[in-house]
Amino acid sequence: MATLTHSSSFTHLFTKLSLKPKKFTSPSRIRMSLQENAPSLAVVGVTGAVGQEFLSVLSDRDFPYGSIKMLASKRSAGKQITFEDRNYTIEELTEDSFDGVDIALFSAGGSISKHFGPLAVEKGTIVVDNSSAFRMEEGVPLVIPEVNPEAMKGIKVGMGKGALIANPNCSTIICLMAATPLHRHAKVKRMVVSTYQAASGAGAAAMEELELQTREVLEGKPPTCNIFKQQYAFNLFSHNAPILSNGYNEEEMKLVKETRKIWNDMDVKVTATCIRVPVMRAHAESVNLQFEKPLLEDTAKSILKSSPGVVVIDDRASNHFPTPLEVSNKDDVAVGRIRHDVSQDGYSG
Ligand SMILES: NC(=O)c1ccc[n+]([C@@H]2O[C@H](COP(=O)([O-])OP(=O)(O)OC[C@H]3O[C@@H](n4cnc5c(N)ncnc54)[C@H](OP(=O)(O)O)[C@@H]3O)[C@@H](O)[C@H]2O)c1
Repeated sequence: MATLTHSSSFTHLFTKLSLKPKKFTSPSRIRMSLQENAPSLAVVGVTGAVGQEFLSVLSDRDFPYGSIKMLASKRSAGKQITFEDRNYTIEELTEDSFDGVDIALFSAGGSISKHFGPLAVEKGTIVVDNSSAFRMEEGVPLVIPEVNPEAMKGIKVGMGKGALIANPNCSTIICLMAATPLHRHAKVKRMVVSTYQAASGAGAAAMEELELQTREVLEGKPPTCNIFKQQYAFNLFSHNAPILSNGYNEEEMKLVKETRKIWNDMDVKVTATCIRVPVMRAHAESVNLQFEKPLLEDTAKSILKSSPGVVVIDDRASNHFPTPLEVSNKDDVAVGRIRHDVSQDGYSG
């Protein structure tokens, strides 16, 4: 089974924080920001690849908000940003940034989250953190809304009580969006994942570097390697996350540990190999599942077709399956190449 997505599943989180995004009549965007009693938001890391994605999903989903603070580093403070036809001045993130903020979406790196996340929670803010800072911390829900929304049960906007919600790694999210519905049906014993990860996962500067390198290589010039240590354009390499003592890299071990936490199953066997490919946006994965109970191919397809946030693109006759270009700028995880593993007996793979 192969899965792909534009990695914005984290943004589903705030549509599930006991709020019903409201639809408005035209001109919805201006009226929406004027809503009374809607939560006040803050986006931390608003100038980054994820921060920009936060804004675009807030807008796409007509998420109700009373105000938005646009927060980034000192470097960006004072710059203007336009969102839903209004101009905002980017503010420097400081310890006072969260006064009166109901929901803060964090995506400015783990060290920023570690420092400012708990400060925001103390001020009564619900923090949705996109970094790895709190994912494995006991008591912090690690949530994919389509998979385990119950983990954040009890966290409610408007109660004046802060909370931390961690958002899993992008590879884990897209894998589990597809694997969980099948897991619920036939219980996964072992999962083997291989990833084909895009530049977007490494941030805005990595996407710029891929574009620059592509031009440079085509022009016969040596490629600029600032973000990655080696040529990225027209190449692929093992994921740039640090290598651990067991030979796996951190990205691979995130898939192992986060799956166990989200499924609340410490026995599930997971192994992963993560590769960076020169694709601008949307990660792809090959996911091989071994089940406890037999699972027929047609059953698997129909389960996936009815799973929230999943679309099946699996047209064998025309050899048409998900591609990064097809899923970019869309929220759903696309799944294709769904087939029995011929190396496993009894329809268990
Ligand atoms: N890209 C993805 O798909 C993805 C997926 C999952 C998780 N993440 C995680 O999300 C985080 C950000 O990723 P990204 O891809 O958006 O990176 P990015 O494009 O490099 O953006 C980084 C953001 O963090 C801000 N920032 C840096 N230092 C700061 C500081 N001292 N105070 C306040 N803001 C600061 C930057 O603001 P300035 O512009 O002012 O420097 C920028 O807005 C990382 O932890 C990454 O691991 C990314």
